[in-house]
Amino acid sequence: MNEKLEKIMQDALGQINSSENLEKLNDIKVAFLGKKGELTSVLKSMKDVAPEDRPKVGQMVNDARQKIEKTLEEKQKAFAKKLREEKMKAEVIDVTLPGKKPELGHRHPNTIALEEVEKIFVGLGYEVVTGPEVEYDYYNFEALNIPANHPAKDEQDTFYINDKLLLRTQTSSVQVRVMEEGKLPIKMIAPGRVFRSDEVDATHSPSFHQIEGLVIDKHVTFADLKGTLAEFAKELFGKETKVKFRPHHFPFTEPSAEMDVTCFKCGGKGCRFCKGEGWIEILGCGMVHPHVLEMSNIDPEEYTGFAFGVGLERIALLKYEIDDMRLLYENDKRFLEQF
Ligand code: DAH
Repeated sequence: MNEKLEKIMQDALGQINSSENLEKLNDIKVAFLGKKGELTSVLKSMKDVAPEDRPKVGQMVNDARQKIEKTLEEKQKAFAKKLREEKMKAEVIDVTLPGKKPELGHRHPNTIALEEVEKIFVGLGYEVVTGPEVEYDYYNFEALNIPANHPAKDEQDTFYINDKLLLRTQTSSVQVRVMEEGKLPIKMIAPGRVFRSDEVDATHSPSFHQIEGLVIDKHVTFADLKGTLAEFAKELFGKETKVKFRPHHFPFTEPSAEMDVTCFKCGGKGCRFCKGEGWIEILGCGMVHPHVLEMSNIDPEEYTGFAFGVGLERIALLKYEIDDMRLLYENDKRFLEQF
């Protein structure tokens, strides 16, 4: 019995010491100490041992078991330590390396200008709405008093998708969409991208942005239009800014006007920036034409309104004194970061 035990133990220790990984160790544990393991089978055969020898043999089996367990545990610890060390080595961080600077983006001058305009009008109680860039001829022209063959259509020659659909040439189309909803009064601005078949140069682009404005309520007059737009100009270009309205023509407003602001560079004296004029043209506006109201089911006897349209790029160029519109579309970070 003694010899048999000794052999089992040597066998176990030999296997443990030459094992290569934790799984193997586990197999060895099962093979020797498990329910059907070799050492356990010795215990089971105790009935064949003479009763007087049993305590001694029992003690020997226990000693062998302890020895094997202890060796297993030590080997297990050694493996775990080795594993940990390998992991640490693989995950080593060189804290002396220079950091990676995150590349932060920058808001586009158009965006900055738009947010400023939105802030002003939201402060005056306006809602900001949007409309589709691919638009029906009806909303872009027809419902704005520009029927087929109207010369104004020629001026805004556009990209047609088919007879009825086009890329909108003006955000004025959103006026019609909002009026059609039938909720009155209306006090909204509608910023967005518009398209025209223009050649690219310092002041033109086939795709640019406008901000439309529309107010409709009972008793709205031209005085409201003037007051609102004068306030807008002051907020945008500075308290000293004065405005001037020149008669103009737009098919969807009557009367119509263009608004100039005093040059914020020279204060109106005349300089290179305003080409000696002292004034800078900034937007188109007017009282909504009664026929336009009627077409959208608003009674012109009961309701009146004013509208305006301003070029977003124009504001950005003026505010940031940029002299070529193309710079706004190149998206060169060195340029954009200046604003
Ligand atoms: N939609 C006009 C344009 O693109 C600008 C404009 C003028 C809009 C007068 C208006 C307005 O709402 O009342 O030239």
